[in-house]
Order: sequence, then C-alpha cells, then structure tokens
Amino acid sequence: MLTRLPNGYPRPLAAPRFNPGAPDARRLEVTLTDDVLVVHGGAPLQGQIRVRGAKNLVSKAMVAALLGESPSHLYDVPRIRDVEVVRGLLELHGVKVSDGADDGEIVMDPTNVESASTDEINVHAGSSRIPILLCGPLLHRLGHAFIPDLGGCHIGPRPIDFHIQALREFGAVVEKTPEGMHLSAPTGLRGAKLELPYPSVGATEQVLLTAVRAEGVTELRNAAIEPEIMDLICVLQKMGAIITVHTDRVIEVHGVPRLHGYKHRPIPDRIEAASWAAAALATKGEIEVLGARQADMMTFLNVFRSIGGECEITDERVARPGVTAAEGGIKFWHPGHELQAVALETDVHPGFMTDWQQPLVVALTQARGLSIMHETVYEQRLGYTDALNQMGATIQVYRDCLGGTPCRFGRRNFMHSAVIAGPSKLHAADLVIPDLRAGFAHLIAALAAEGTSRVYGVDLINRGYEDFEGKLAALGAHVERLG
Ligand code: EPU
Repeated sequence: MLTRLPNGYPRPLAAPRFNPGAPDARRLEVTLTDDVLVVHGGAPLQGQIRVRGAKNLVSKAMVAALLGESPSHLYDVPRIRDVEVVRGLLELHGVKVSDGADDGEIVMDPTNVESASTDEINVHAGSSRIPILLCGPLLHRLGHAFIPDLGGCHIGPRPIDFHIQALREFGAVVEKTPEGMHLSAPTGLRGAKLELPYPSVGATEQVLLTAVRAEGVTELRNAAIEPEIMDLICVLQKMGAIITVHTDRVIEVHGVPRLHGYKHRPIPDRIEAASWAAAALATKGEIEVLGARQADMMTFLNVFRSIGGECEITDERVARPGVTAAEGGIKFWHPGHELQAVALETDVHPGFMTDWQQPLVVALTQARGLSIMHETVYEQRLGYTDALNQMGATIQVYRDCLGGTPCRFGRRNFMHSAVIAGPSKLHAADLVIPDLRAGFAHLIAALAAEGTSRVYGVDLINRGYEDFEGKLAALGAHVERLG
C-alpha cells in the first residue's frame, strides 16, 4: 500500500524487489496494484503535446523566492510532484504560496518566513533532492536550517560533500544527525573562494543561492553551466543579485544585503522534450513538442539527426502588427527507414545530458549496428537496461570507459558503459519503474513493444513528467490503469 504525502501525492516507492535468479519477466515479485499502467504497445505515437517550465529550474526558482523580501511570480509551472514537495517545504517555513491569474502561475510571498519543526519537515524526508538547496536561503532568513534526508533517483551514491564543504566555507556550522542535517550561521555568511572537484549542478546552485546574500565576494571555479543554472542566475539577477559568469566555468557573485521578488518565465523542460522525441523514434511515430526550444537542445538535436531521426524547428512568434502570436516547438519523427547506430557519452553541459540517455537508449535498440553509451555523470545509471534485455533488446554493460574520454568511473568497478546491438524486436513484459528517467524509458519500450505490458510503479513518473497519461492519450497510445 502506498502512503501519501499531505499534498496527496504518493510517497516514493520502496525499492522494488526482484528475484534475479528467475529467467524472465516473472522475476517481478512485488505487486503494486494501485499503481499499474497496462500498455498495449506496437502503435506509433502521433500528435502534439506541450512541455512547460523545466523541473530542474522551477524547483530551484521556488527556493530562490525565499531569499526575497517581496512576492515572486513564477509562470508555466508544471504540475509535478517535485514542485509539490518544494511548495510544501516553503509553506512549512511561512511562505504563502498561491495560484496566480495565469494558467501555471504561482505566487510565493516570503514576507513572514518562520522556523518549522523538524517533525513537520521530516514529512518530506526521502521525497526529493531539492531540500538541500534550502540551506543558504534559510540561513540568511532565519540563521538556522534543518534539512531532512534527501530522496531523488537511485542512480549512484549521490553524495552531498561538495554542498557541505561549500557551506562550511561560507561560515555555516553543519551538524549531521540521524534525523537529518542541522545548520546554523552564528557569525553570518561570508563570501568565499571555492572550487568544485566536479561541475556539480546542485553544488553550483547551492553556492549561488548562498553567495547572493553573503557578505563580500564569492568566486566559484569549475562551476556547472547548464541552461537551468543560467536561468537560475537570471532569476537571481531579477531579484537584485550581482552575478558574473566568466569564461572557463568561473562564476563571481557580489553579495548584496537585500533581494526582492521576481517575475520569471522558466526555460522549457529540455529533458521532457527529448524524452518525447525518443518516444517518437522508438515507436516509429511523429510527435510535435510545443514549447521545446532549439537553443537548449542543440546537442540532443545533432544526435537525433545522426541516428536518422527527422525534426523541424518552429520558433516562437511574438504578436506584433500584422503577425499573430504562435507557440514555438520542435516536431520529431521517425524517417521511415532504418536508424543508424551511434557512439555517445553523457557529460556536463554542453555535452549530451545524462537525463537524455535512458529514453534514447530505447530508440537505439531499433538502430542497425552497435551503439555505445558511455555514462560519465552517474556511476549507476544503466541498471534499467536489464529490463530492456528481458524485452528482447541486446544490451551489454561494461566497467570500461568505452567512450573517447576516460572518466571518473573507469577504474572504480562501476558498470557504466553500454553496447546496444540493434535492431531488436521488443516484446511485452512486466516492468517495475526503477527511477524517473529510466521509468520513462521503460514506458517508451512498452509502447514500442508488440503486445501488452504491465508497468508497475508508474506514479513515480509524476515526479517529473506533467500529466504524462493525458499526453499519452493525446498521442493515441493504448494505455489503461489496472483495476
Ligand atoms: N556529486 C558529488 N558530490 C556532491 C554533489 C555531486 O560527488 O556533493 C557528484 C554526483 O554524485 C554525480 C555528479 O557529481 O556523480 C553530478 O551530480 P550533480 O550534483 O550535477 O547532480 P544533481 O544536482 O544532484 C541535477 C539534476 C539531475 C541531473 C543532474 C546532472 C535536479 C533536481 N537534478 O542533479 O536530474 O541528472 O543534475 O545534470 O536538478 C532528473 O531530473 O531525473 C535528474 C536526476
């Protein structure tokens, strides 16, 4: 039985239990009867859907609202579980969150930020990784913070050592306890010279959200420069922050004593857009993703074309005399002939995103020849390929770095490179969703496979894909809830 968070969303699933000794899809031992999607696969997905603001920006922009002294307005916010978790945490800390006049607009009023009890905060334990980003803003607003155990996808150990090290250098006192992490800043927070061992997205956001109101100048070397980070910088600049992005991954922040609210339309979700693009390719369909933007997806679009996928980009048109407004987007479709294998490695921006990897691998099972996927961002992000093999794919994973560049995981025994031999005829199976992106990949595989699959734990997909069942229906997918 799934327990639910106070906001009505289900808690993340317990890790599914497998019996690895059993020969096929019957390896599944657990049955989650209220969370199963029956997928009648084998038909192309066709139609138009829309993506809204990027999950990995929206949640951070919501945290940034805590730093202001007046209300912030965020537009185009998707209805996903990560947003609900952050909303719940903000409300616990006295931020009034309400729906704005526009569809997808939320208004966050941080005028009366207050402490929350550890018990209340712990309701959100294990539900997301975003709570760690509340450290800096809460220290600035309250002088102390409590952060529950983090959740998020199980795609590697996902340590937070860079975050803690940076916070300590700003002057925070960090104490880890069995119930979570307590922080205080008895003498305030001061700017620091920092260098990340790896350009971590989360640690860069941690530094930005802390440095903007710390006293003095912060210099961060080896920072992440993903489009979502640049958009967070835009949010903070709108609030009154002074942030300079230098060449070679150096970010400089001049702390200011006060920030105010912002009005911001986030960048579109380039992970969701790429997931639907991969679904179009894997099911031999055609999907127009309204809202998808070329500039954020150039690396993906090059790969999509190299495989043989076709796409057409339409720019957004702003209304002016004689011109009516039109939403931009990208149409993705299967070329009608065989796809080609590619060799790829995931990387930090501007490389091929690790979150694009799983859906694309499903499409690569349909490409002729040997494709290579070298995962260099997370050490354990290929486990989902077992289920694809059960469905008829031929994917072998290796410890070696099979990409052009040796990575951090090469000599550390992690199975982090995959060779995908195709094309393979996929057949239906019973699948358990392991994490968000791999879960969507499983769903695509079930849609591409001949026959009827049952996908267990699909509610996990609501963490990052807004109304995915509605979108599947709009694309003509034959799916239904079990029971
Ligand atoms: N790392 C450390 N120590 C740290 C922080 C990170 O060793 O203190 C390592 C991680 O273990 C990983 C690498 O650095 O091997 C990169 O991790 P990063 O911090 O960049 O990832 P994140 O901030 O936790 C965000 C996204 C992920 C996305 C990655 C990479 C959010 C909420 N999550 O995670 O998105 O894969 O950046 O782009 O923004 C998803 O949306 O499904 C998702 C997992």
